[in-house]
Amino acid sequence: MQFPDYRPRRLRKNENFRRLIRETKLSVDNLIYPMFVVPGQKVKKTIASMPGNFQMSVDHIVREAARMKELGIPAVLLFGIPEKKDEIASGALAKDGIVQRAIRAIKEKVPEILVITDVCLCEYTSHGHCGMIEKGEVANDMTLEVLAEQAVSHAKAGADMVAPSAMMDGQIGALREGLDEAGFDTVPIMAYSAKYASCFYGPFREAAESAPSFGDRRAYQMDPANSDEAMREITLDVQEGADIIMVKPALTYLDVIRRAKEEFDLPLAAYNVSGEFAMVKAAAQMGWLDGERAMLESLTAIRRAGADIIITYFAPEAALILGK
Ligand code: PBG
Repeated sequence: MQFPDYRPRRLRKNENFRRLIRETKLSVDNLIYPMFVVPGQKVKKTIASMPGNFQMSVDHIVREAARMKELGIPAVLLFGIPEKKDEIASGALAKDGIVQRAIRAIKEKVPEILVITDVCLCEYTSHGHCGMIEKGEVANDMTLEVLAEQAVSHAKAGADMVAPSAMMDGQIGALREGLDEAGFDTVPIMAYSAKYASCFYGPFREAAESAPSFGDRRAYQMDPANSDEAMREITLDVQEGADIIMVKPALTYLDVIRRAKEEFDLPLAAYNVSGEFAMVKAAAQMGWLDGERAMLESLTAIRRAGADIIITYFAPEAALILGK
């Protein structure tokens, strides 16, 4: 294949040719929409750095879940901001905790949509770290018990799937064991396997009010420089019983997504995180980028890299364009 015999432009001539040979297709089928639930009634508070996304009380969360269902989106991912945060994250485990209430309400009113829950303590601890603190550090094994209990309480409330994001060693095994013992052996785990210590979580921490009050998360989240280590992390999660593996963030880790796709045969999710969303929105607001095209190009890149599932704040906007 050589020029001038081969001319790649022949098949780019018009949209019909391009459609025929298009390799990656976006579909609403693969999207998960994250939502933030807060205490109160009739609360729908804009998150400044994430236009179109809100902190919502349970009543509004249910309405938003219904809208997602109408748009054809198969699943939502819930994050909760409790009334009170404390040292031991008690809000994370309460039977009538904020996420537990939201799960029940959605499952009652919109049973057709999957409810996935974030299993992590950072939204519930007064110090904002993802685990229990002992001697000034995040204690791994002690945290595992709490995470397992949190997952079970989500399952009891009706969660369809749990998604542990705390980056504690052994968390997938601990959750699997806890869920099985409690009779939830059919509830799958979507593992945040390769989650990096990223600055692109900035807007999320405003949305979830979960920035750490001291230090940072680099002692448990991964170093952005590492990709071999990501494969080791994923291997552990697969051995411990993950049903879906995840790479997070997405756009600055497309190479890791590609490697994970090639090396593992479990469904692979990628989290198009808050900062990735905010950058596109900000540039579009400034008139510096075509926001819609930037969104579609970003989502296409994540799928092309190998992600089967994309968790994204763009889900409703993308769904409007992609159709059911
Ligand atoms: C932790 C968690 C975070 C995100 C998802 N789960 C924040 C963090 O680790 O600091 C970030 C998601 C995003 O930026 O969109 N519970």
